[in-house]
Amino acid sequence: MADGETGELGRIALNRSDLFREQCYINGKWTGDPTIEVRNPATRGVIGRIPNLGKSETETAVAAATAAFPKWKSETAAARAKIMLKWNDLMVAHQEDLARLMTAEQGKPLAEARGEIVYAGSFLQWYGEEAKRVYGDTIPAPAADRRIMVLKQPVGVVGAITPWNFPAAMITRKVGPGIAAGCTIVLKPSELTPYSAFAIAVLAEEAGLPPGVLNIVTGDAEPIGRVLTEDPRIAKFTFTGSTPVGKKLAAQCAGTVKRVSLELGGNAPFLVFDDADLEAAASGAIISKFRNTGQTCVCANRLYVQDGVYDKFATLLAEKAAALAVGDGLVGVTQQGPLINMKALEKVEAHVADAIGHGAKILTGAHRDSHGGTFYQPTVLRDVAPDALLTREETFGPVAGLVRFKSEEDALRLANDSRAGLAAYAFTRELARSWRVSEGLEYGMVGMNTGLISTEVSPFGGVKESGIGREGSKYGLDEFLDLKAVFVQL
Ligand code: SIN
Repeated sequence: MADGETGELGRIALNRSDLFREQCYINGKWTGDPTIEVRNPATRGVIGRIPNLGKSETETAVAAATAAFPKWKSETAAARAKIMLKWNDLMVAHQEDLARLMTAEQGKPLAEARGEIVYAGSFLQWYGEEAKRVYGDTIPAPAADRRIMVLKQPVGVVGAITPWNFPAAMITRKVGPGIAAGCTIVLKPSELTPYSAFAIAVLAEEAGLPPGVLNIVTGDAEPIGRVLTEDPRIAKFTFTGSTPVGKKLAAQCAGTVKRVSLELGGNAPFLVFDDADLEAAASGAIISKFRNTGQTCVCANRLYVQDGVYDKFATLLAEKAAALAVGDGLVGVTQQGPLINMKALEKVEAHVADAIGHGAKILTGAHRDSHGGTFYQPTVLRDVAPDALLTREETFGPVAGLVRFKSEEDALRLANDSRAGLAAYAFTRELARSWRVSEGLEYGMVGMNTGLISTEVSPFGGVKESGIGREGSKYGLDEFLDLKAVFVQL
């Protein structure tokens, strides 16, 4: 740690300084020279460094996971559950330290980071419990002297790549079901937010997770990604990130025919009908749109509002957005942190400029925030053209663009006119409409009269180009299990 860099770590003020690691975790050992700088997006100060590992170290991690697999899969479900439940307990016990680390590296407000730690732990708890319920089947055979059984067995070694926007929960949402199923894992977290991953590994070790079951590598995404997608020892690959990168990684998996789970980009429509509870709709839009400063795959990206309530809803939403406190997530009552980097800020600016160029009017925001750096004011635009960039691409920032619609049919047509199919939201008080719209939306998840759809108990994932497979819930466990049909001739 060079002089002048103690500032960032000092501000994080960990109770347990050993949760901060600057090395990778392979076969139960901390390894690698920390060379890549990790910066706090709020201050741009250097928090620390991480190793720049490549092909050979990733192959070493795969070898460790391969060696650990036979023993780990043979453990009883109860033994795996015990470790996972303790792991969750440790995460909850160290919630404050983990949250402060996360806010420093990712930028999200401390209150959101605290919430994410509990959310992340919930996947360990839920899948620890669910490990005991990996039931098979017996199937009535076509002949009296035959028996057919279906066994569920862990797929094997898993390669996982996780994003920066949820530095803890996107890890446990993959690692939880994987480890519960009996798989072993090589994980590459984002190099922008590695410290949450390392801290989670410290607690895994403390909970009793054996060496080699979870391995973490950081560094150059290309060679690491190649090993995780092309190495024949890896049976399954799971990725959360952008659609273009997901497509490339999935193609790389084809050569060894891996099981693939992809949680990719969204472009969530948010529909407000004339009969909606407008106060609830505006609050739902704030949660959905501005959570994590608009940097979630399930953020409302296009807000379609019916004629009769358009003006009233626009005013309500703009008032609420303007009241959000922008700032450093580690300070005071911040509700909106910085964007992750300059590229993200420039994309937001390009979307806003394009919308305004096509006739949109600013209700609030639409400029950089006085905190400087990558801070951007929460923004609401009205009269956005239905084909503006803001509606066609995922903005991944704190910008709500309102488009007017006339009929339910129009709303569904506009909402479904996208290659993305992750999440959609609608607000209506009419029961029959709520069913018609839920069923008519071509999305993997629908929030009906709610802006919050993330929980460990429900399947998370998309259709169309938003992904393959589901995370969370009983369905998420199936992604890490192979079915084996056993035929017995009596
Ligand atoms: C994501 O943005 O991919 C995850 C968001 C969530 O779990 O709510």
